[in-house]
Amino acid sequence: MSFTAQPLAADKAEAYRDLAQQLTALIGDERDAIANAANTAALLFDLLPDLNWAGFYFLKDGELVLGPFQGKPACIRIAIGKGVCGAAAATRTSQVVADVHAFPGHIACDAASASELVVPLLHGDTLLGVLDLDSPVAGRFDDADRAGIEAVAAIWVKASA
Ligand code: SME
Repeated sequence: MSFTAQPLAADKAEAYRDLAQQLTALIGDERDAIANAANTAALLFDLLPDLNWAGFYFLKDGELVLGPFQGKPACIRIAIGKGVCGAAAATRTSQVVADVHAFPGHIACDAASASELVVPLLHGDTLLGVLDLDSPVAGRFDDADRAGIEAVAAIWVKASA
């Protein structure tokens, strides 16, 4: 396989269309969930500006367990309902947190994190885990990021679940 990531467009919606195309090409017909998660985390971390962490938590035996990621070492297990990741898992809805320090129960893995976006990984009605992005910039994530990362999550689920 030969793959070289290309810089994203300046316009955010266009950038996420670029990112989705590149991720689809990168995954190809691979179906291994860990391999695809590892490459997804690497591509997000490489291409999206102002991130200090990007990665997966998988639902295992009723809790979230750390999966492939880029960034500093992170908390290994997160209970459903705890922190931003646990909230996304409990509600099965994306969480856009402009200021993590104002989020009740936020779990600080990297002190540099100021804002966070977590989207659930849903395969039909089944929750597989969450995809988590952290930024050192407050208010880094908006609704276009949410939609774009939900599309990324859907590509990973379709290929891997
Ligand atoms: N901050 C997250 C924990 C995971 S780390 O950011 C990688 C949370 O509150 O769920």
